[in-house]
Amino acid sequence: MKKTLLSLSTFLFVLMSYSQSSIKLIVKESDPKIIINKNIYGHFAEHLGHCIYGGFYVGDTSKIKNTNGVRNDIIEALKSLKIPILRWPGGCFADTYHWKDGIGEKSKRPSIVNTNWGNVTEDNSFGTHDFLNMCKLLDCEPYLSGNVGSGTVQELADWVQYVNFDNKSPMSDLRKKNGQQEPWGVKFWGVGNEAWGCGGNMKPEFYADKFREYTTFMNNTNKTQLFKIASGASGGDYNWTETLMKNIPVGMLDGIAMHHYAVIDWQNKSDATDFTEQQYFITMKEAWKMEEFVTKHSAILDKYDPKKKVALVVDEWGGWYDVEKGTNPGFLYQQNTMRDAMIAGITLNIFNNHADRVRLACLAQCVNVLQAVILTDKEKMILTPTYHVMEMYNVHQDAKLIPLNVSKSNYVLGKDSLQAISASASVDANGKTHISLVNIDASKEQTISIDLSSEKYKSVTGRILTSAKLQDHNSFDEENKIKPVIFKTASLKGSILTVQLPPISVVVLELK
Ligand code: AHR
Repeated sequence: MKKTLLSLSTFLFVLMSYSQSSIKLIVKESDPKIIINKNIYGHFAEHLGHCIYGGFYVGDTSKIKNTNGVRNDIIEALKSLKIPILRWPGGCFADTYHWKDGIGEKSKRPSIVNTNWGNVTEDNSFGTHDFLNMCKLLDCEPYLSGNVGSGTVQELADWVQYVNFDNKSPMSDLRKKNGQQEPWGVKFWGVGNEAWGCGGNMKPEFYADKFREYTTFMNNTNKTQLFKIASGASGGDYNWTETLMKNIPVGMLDGIAMHHYAVIDWQNKSDATDFTEQQYFITMKEAWKMEEFVTKHSAILDKYDPKKKVALVVDEWGGWYDVEKGTNPGFLYQQNTMRDAMIAGITLNIFNNHADRVRLACLAQCVNVLQAVILTDKEKMILTPTYHVMEMYNVHQDAKLIPLNVSKSNYVLGKDSLQAISASASVDANGKTHISLVNIDASKEQTISIDLSSEKYKSVTGRILTSAKLQDHNSFDEENKIKPVIFKTASLKGSILTVQLPPISVVVLELK
C-alpha cells in the first residue's frame, strides 16, 4: 500500500490537452498519514421549517411508513449516503432550546415559540430520545449543540449526564425513568452556536470565557470522552479564531467551528432555480472562498496548535437563496439545482484537500432547508443533485488523501474569471484510488490527460452527474432528471488516462 502511494505521488499527474482550457493536476508528495475523516461528510438538522417536523419526523400515527415517527424512506436514503454524523437541534434554535422540554411523555411536554424561524409553535414532540434513537437507525454519530446563549452551565452539564452517564445519578435515573436504560454515549458537543450573532451577540473574549466555564462542567464518563467544539467564526472573521485560540488552552477544546454560506447578496440572494449565469458565477465565487477561509483559519490554528490537535469544524456550509415562492420566509425552503451540485463538488474537494485540519463538516441542512439533500412533499420524497454528489464522494470517507497540485484553469465570464476545475484524490483501504473532478464552467468542456506513469492500473470506471442547464433540478414530477450515470469518456491506454469533462459536471473515477 505504502509503495503504491509513494509511486502514485511521484508519477500521477494530469494534463489538459486543449490549449484553450489547459489545466494540469500534479500529485504532491503523498503523506500517507493524512486520512480524510468521514465526518467531513456530515449533515445538519435544525428545528427549522420542515427539516424535523414534516421532514424527518412525521409522528408514529402517520400513514407515511415510519419507525418511531421517523420516515423510513429518509432513513434508507441517508444510510445509502453513508451519513457519518448529524448535528442537532440547531443552529440558532440551539441557543433557545431547553432540552428538558423535550423528554418524557409527549402530551405533557411544554410548547415554546421558535423565535428564530417563523415564530411557529414548537411542541417539543421531537426531543433528545427521538434524535438519538434516530441516529442509531441511521447508524451515524450524533452531534449535539448545547445552549449557551439562553441556557445555564447546569443545564448543559445535566444534558451531558442525562445522555452519557452509566451509573446512578439524578440525570441517568431520569433517563431510565423515561425508558432509556443504556446511555447513548454522545461524543460530539457544540458549546453554543454563532455566539457572535443569534447565539448571544458576544464578543470573542467574552465567549472564550464562556467556553471555558461551560466545558469545565461537561464531564467525560468511563466510556465516552467528549469532543468539545467552540462556536466559531463566520467566513473570514479571523479575529474570532485568533482570540479564541489565544484565550482557550489547546487541551480544553477539540474543535473550533466556522460557518460559510455561498450567498450572492444577503439582500438579494436570487431565486433557487430562476437565476442567470452571472448570478451562478457569483455563487461559485462565494463557494470558492471556502478555500481561502479554511487555509487562513488553519494557519491561525497552526500558530497555537502546531500538532494539529484541534479540528476545524465547518459545521454549516452550502448555498442560500430566496425561499421558494409561496413558502414561509422563516422556513428557508429552497430547490436544489446543478448550481448546488457544483457548490457541493468543489466544497467537498476543498475539505478533502485540507483533511489535516478539517475533520468535521455539516452541510446545511439535511431535509427541506437550504441546500438540502432530501426534499419532501407529504408522502413524496426526492433526492437532490447535492445528494448525488455526496453519495458519489462517499468513497473518500476514511480514505488516505493523495494531495494534488491543480494549476490554474479559467472559467471566464465577462471580465471576471474563476478556477474552473476542482479535484481531490484518495486511496481507500482496499487499495482503490478515487479521483473526484468538477468542471464548474457553464459551457466549456475540459479534456484532461492523466499520466499514471509506472502505475499498473488495469481499469478505470466512473460516474458522472451533469445536466444540460445550470437551472436543471429534480422535482416531485420529475424525480430522476438528474442522477449519476456511468461515465464513458474516460479511457486508459497504458499509463495514460484521458478524461473528457463536460461543462457543469461532477465525475468520480475509480482506478484499480
Ligand atoms: O442554517 C440556518 C442558520 O444559519 C443557522 O440556524 C445559523 O447557525 C446560521 O446563521
